[in-house]
Amino acid sequence: FQISLPENEPVKGYLPGSPEKAALKAELKRQLAEPVEVPVIIGGKEIRTASKAPIICPHDHQKLLGQYYIAGEQELLEAIEAAEAAKAEWENMPWEHRATIFLKAADLLTKKYRAKLAASCMLGQSKNAYQAEIDVICELADFLRFNAYYVQEIYKQQPNNSDGVWNRIEYRALDGFVAAITPFNFTAIGGNLSTAPAMAGNTVLWKPSSTAVLSNYYFMQILIEAGLPAGVINFLPCRGVDFGKTVISHPQMAGFHFTGSTGVFNGIWNQVGQNIDQYVTYPRLVGETGGKDFIFAHASADIEALTCAMVLGAFEYQGQKCSAASRAYIPESLWGKVKARLEAETGKIKMGDVCDFTNLVNAVIDRNSFNKIQSYIEFARESKDAEIIIGGKCDDSKGFFVEPTVILAKTPDFKTMVEEIFGPVLTVYVYPDDALEATLTACDTATIYGLTGSVFAQDRAAVIKIAKALEHAAGNFYINDKPTGAVVGQQPFGGSRASGTNDKAGSAINLTRWMSQRAIKETL
Ligand code: NAD
Ligand code: ALA
Repeated sequence: FQISLPENEPVKGYLPGSPEKAALKAELKRQLAEPVEVPVIIGGKEIRTASKAPIICPHDHQKLLGQYYIAGEQELLEAIEAAEAAKAEWENMPWEHRATIFLKAADLLTKKYRAKLAASCMLGQSKNAYQAEIDVICELADFLRFNAYYVQEIYKQQPNNSDGVWNRIEYRALDGFVAAITPFNFTAIGGNLSTAPAMAGNTVLWKPSSTAVLSNYYFMQILIEAGLPAGVINFLPCRGVDFGKTVISHPQMAGFHFTGSTGVFNGIWNQVGQNIDQYVTYPRLVGETGGKDFIFAHASADIEALTCAMVLGAFEYQGQKCSAASRAYIPESLWGKVKARLEAETGKIKMGDVCDFTNLVNAVIDRNSFNKIQSYIEFARESKDAEIIIGGKCDDSKGFFVEPTVILAKTPDFKTMVEEIFGPVLTVYVYPDDALEATLTACDTATIYGLTGSVFAQDRAAVIKIAKALEHAAGNFYINDKPTGAVVGQQPFGGSRASGTNDKAGSAINLTRWMSQRAIKETL
């Protein structure tokens, strides 16, 4: 049994007349007509609890896609028992058998359930067909296949021997269960955070985001169909605070795999700190958190490539990617042309329902998000230090729609230049061409984050200078490309500073975090 280096799952185009488009349209229609009930899944059993909540379609908030059941303290405790009960057999199973289950899940996802998963992600998380395809199909399948390959490669690594001594390393699972809390914006992240520790032999308690529960549930069903034994991953839609209280503080919690906002991760880190004497082992804390990602243009930048990156980087998936471009630094000498192209390109963007495939921009995820984004736009509208130059309208009468918006800030520390908004809002600061160094310092120090960033320059010396000046400002750095769209196996993803522990999703580094090594010396 040998897994070869995988190839990335090819992205389908959903072109008019294509079979994949016909299948997806049919599936969208079916899911809109047939509301579902999403259960809690513990030890392989579906549980319908006493408490439930609606699954709302963000582009039409009166449209219910179904409802999901909410796990409470009792179910969370049962899930811990189920994870502990499943642990020994799972951990001791030959790793090839474990890997086979996840590789089969990737094939089921891409071959049998592509339309179902893509449609659920489109309707539940308001992604257009392309954004759903690159998330819940391609990136998720890539995580499964590449992680299986990386586990194999890690397990091969063994120490040297000496005369009469046989040394070896056993790559054991952690001593307890792993808790995974996952965000709404990428189903692939939910799938990765729950399966990566499981590939290394851990059992997992997975709390999906309440606004991504539908696609996350369909993925959980795929894992079960692929042969995942009961209790290895327990699917637990629930309130974050309940999960925190019961699961994170539990003595057997040996690892925590998180993606979401910085504030929530900090809260959990504090909670772990307060309980540190209770745990059987020091919990591994892996978190990928917020961002305030930048595009930095030099006077030698190609204007077409730059503006294309600004528009796609800022507005695809309504700016709700942790990697989304949300601040840009443009030299005065380019600004006239950049502004004209930005206006022209943004003016072509169609916004609306995900079922109309001509819409590039769809709704933002929910009312809280809509209100938060709107309040930033209103702040800029009323400020003397900024001007809204494109967009700025918000309409929640049917769905949660926010127009792609560009704010021009007079200072590099204007509020919308430094705080994460997580919506389709790009703030631009125009700098004097002779203030390059000062503007680089402003870019480096303006925010607490360090997730993604791009430089646009054709002058090679400028590329090198800017890349060096911003070396700690982004865990994923792009030269002449937008700061979004990292591909598993090509650009391992993650940031530092307040953007996370930088344990790179979809990498061997990440997988080793879920392994506890035993080094054995045997004297022969
Ligand atoms: P969020 O922090 O609101 O929620 C993330 C998860 O935490 C959800 O499952 C949520 O229910 C749960 N949660 C919320 N409060 C909790 C609490 N008190 N205790 C325990 N769990 C709790 O984030 P979101 O809105 O789902 O996602 C957007 C955020 O995620 C943004 O900040 C974005 O930058 C970040 N993100 C980062 C990356 C990355 O790789 N760095 C990737 C995707 C998203
Ligand atoms: N991996 C996603 C991106 O790079 C977040 O856009």
